[in-house]
Amino acid sequence: MKTRLNLLLLSFLFAAPAFAESKNLHFNASQGQERHIDVNGQKVQYLAFEGLSYVAKPLEPAYQQLNVYIPKAYFEHQSIGRYTTETAPIFLPNNVGGYMPSQPKAPGLGRDQQPDAIAQALAHGLVVVSPGTRGRTLQDKSGNYTGKAPAAIVDLKAVVRYLKFNDIKMPGDANKIISNGTSAGGALSALLGASGDAPDYLPYLKQLGAAPGSDAIYAVSSYCPITNLGHADLAYEWMFQSIHEATAPKLQAGQAFEAPGLEPGSPLALNEKIKGDRRNRPAGAPVFNLGPMTAKQLKVSSELASAFPDYLNSLSLTHKGQALQLSKDGTGAFQQYLQQQLLQSAMVAQQQGKDLNAATWLKTSSAGLQVDWNNYIKATGRLKKAPAFDSLDLSSGENSLFGDSKTNNKHFTDWGVAHSASPQKKSKQRAPAAIVTLMDPMHFIGKETIKTSTHWRIRHGAADNDTSLAVPAILALRLENSGKNVDFSLPFAQPHGGDYDLAELFNWIATLP
Ligand code: DHB
Repeated sequence: MKTRLNLLLLSFLFAAPAFAESKNLHFNASQGQERHIDVNGQKVQYLAFEGLSYVAKPLEPAYQQLNVYIPKAYFEHQSIGRYTTETAPIFLPNNVGGYMPSQPKAPGLGRDQQPDAIAQALAHGLVVVSPGTRGRTLQDKSGNYTGKAPAAIVDLKAVVRYLKFNDIKMPGDANKIISNGTSAGGALSALLGASGDAPDYLPYLKQLGAAPGSDAIYAVSSYCPITNLGHADLAYEWMFQSIHEATAPKLQAGQAFEAPGLEPGSPLALNEKIKGDRRNRPAGAPVFNLGPMTAKQLKVSSELASAFPDYLNSLSLTHKGQALQLSKDGTGAFQQYLQQQLLQSAMVAQQQGKDLNAATWLKTSSAGLQVDWNNYIKATGRLKKAPAFDSLDLSSGENSLFGDSKTNNKHFTDWGVAHSASPQKKSKQRAPAAIVTLMDPMHFIGKETIKTSTHWRIRHGAADNDTSLAVPAILALRLENSGKNVDFSLPFAQPHGGDYDLAELFNWIATLP
């Protein structure tokens, strides 16, 4: 008896530190504020819980917090469609753009003035969690950087652990977390889904006092992920090598020029345009230095492009049993696969009654629609000069992502280091390979010890040139080849952005088991 008591005491003493750290991470379901929002004529009532700390020892308390929104029905023993308070999935849209710091959001209107993803998720009976995360520009009082890689993904994992830790207390099923994000946020959404329970992040989670438990999630929605950063430069030049000038992001038909206070077409507006304007780009998306490329940049482009086939072939990707390889000259089955995806995109647009006339890369013949790859590249154009991501002068957003507490910008590829034009000391120029890996979903997919999500929806606009469309395709194929349920497509004429097809996104969520 005495031994039993001693054991009990001992186990309590050992458990105490973990308990102490998690003690302020308890969700209190009685502290919600009642609110409502109109979603397409429907009054959606919900409870709001805002500004909750998701780690016990935040480094940036203003960012490491989350908002929770829960349909009121779940506090009144009602169901919404097939969901109840126990079974409703938890929708987790991050707000990251440009790998910048992000803050939690409340339901409201999106940039298109329609109810945003949070509002629509509530209308569909989902519990919604909107997290803030650290980002690459944050500095503490002493000037040390606090949000460099892997901070944002560690924060999202801490959020997932918080939700699982509170699963009993909070309406919704924390085994049904569905992540969503766009661009850098799309990349983080994919990384969160790819890297479930990877031990590599444990020291970081521990340092923050994250809740104990699993960080694996159920499903991923990812729009135009700026991902696979170690190979994105190769993929970009493989596609855009023939384009020698960086030009402003494309507008969708009917979209307005969006510079606050400036009339479309005014001299100032045009000037803004030349600098690389922000028309309809996601919040946080960087602005690029446009114009013709130098002879040196063109040389860089052709060297990077010629290195892509070896990388692509090393992945041994297949689709419907066919090997997707590339010849040394960059042509081959993988390119044919992308062409097929573009054709699919055009056919869907045609079925939806969209006007295909503006697409100079589509040919109509007696055999039906055909894609002209070279014209597609011309029509899409390049947004970034070579190298697109690991800039030789360390000036890109990604260089800033891979800095550390003392150094703002670093290289993250062999190629970048070998050709660096930065005056920064060699010893401080490169991010450790282990950190680059922590930001790369490709590193985790297919590993037996990792709990990669089962369900994936990946979208990359057919008119998006922030990264090569090879990047999301490689991600989708790798997932498909490791047996995941993947819905991948390239919405027609869609430039860089996300959440533009929320009705379809929530239909997809409704089909999940
Ligand atoms: C984003 C866009 C980019 O082109 C990039 O390199 C990184 C991030 C973004 O929109 O989040």
